Amino acid sequence: MSVHEILRMGDPRLLRMAEPVTEFDTPAMQALIADMFDTMYAAKGAGLAAPQIGINLQLVIFGFKQNARYPEAPPVPETVLINPVITPLSDAIEENWEGCLSVPGLRGVVPRYQRVRYTGFDQHGAPIDRAVDGFHARVVQHECDHLIGVLYPMRITDFSQFGFTDILFPELDPADDD
Ligand code: NI
Repeated sequence: MSVHEILRMGDPRLLRMAEPVTEFDTPAMQALIADMFDTMYAAKGAGLAAPQIGINLQLVIFGFKQNARYPEAPPVPETVLINPVITPLSDAIEENWEGCLSVPGLRGVVPRYQRVRYTGFDQHGAPIDRAVDGFHARVVQHECDHLIGVLYPMRITDFSQFGFTDILFPELDPADDD
């Protein structure tokens, strides 16, 4: 297990369409997932997509009980989600702050579907089918955007609400954000 370098915005590998996973529960896949959790926890992230470490597969992880980078966020179950499909469950849009480990030091307000269903597979190939809302729905939409080459700044509609984390949120410990 090891912590990987997280690619930063500007790297063309973050703009690719990720390939579907075809083999589940292999030693290589389990090692990759373990490395992704190590990398996410080391960066105190709420989620991580495989393309962020240069692996062009439809694989994301997310979840936390309490997150230092998002102290207001409710817990999200620790999840491995492979070959995901997201379907909005209503037209309702919610705006809230997001950051990204590939866009260090910045935050922006991003409109997302308030309530979505997501399906896919876990690390053993078992199906996942959940209806979620709020921050959980936001995290899933953010992570799955990485699989289609979209970073959250590309979703911002009001750039007056985009800036440096230490200016916007001086109460956050800068050590918790990069
Ligand atoms: Ni991200």
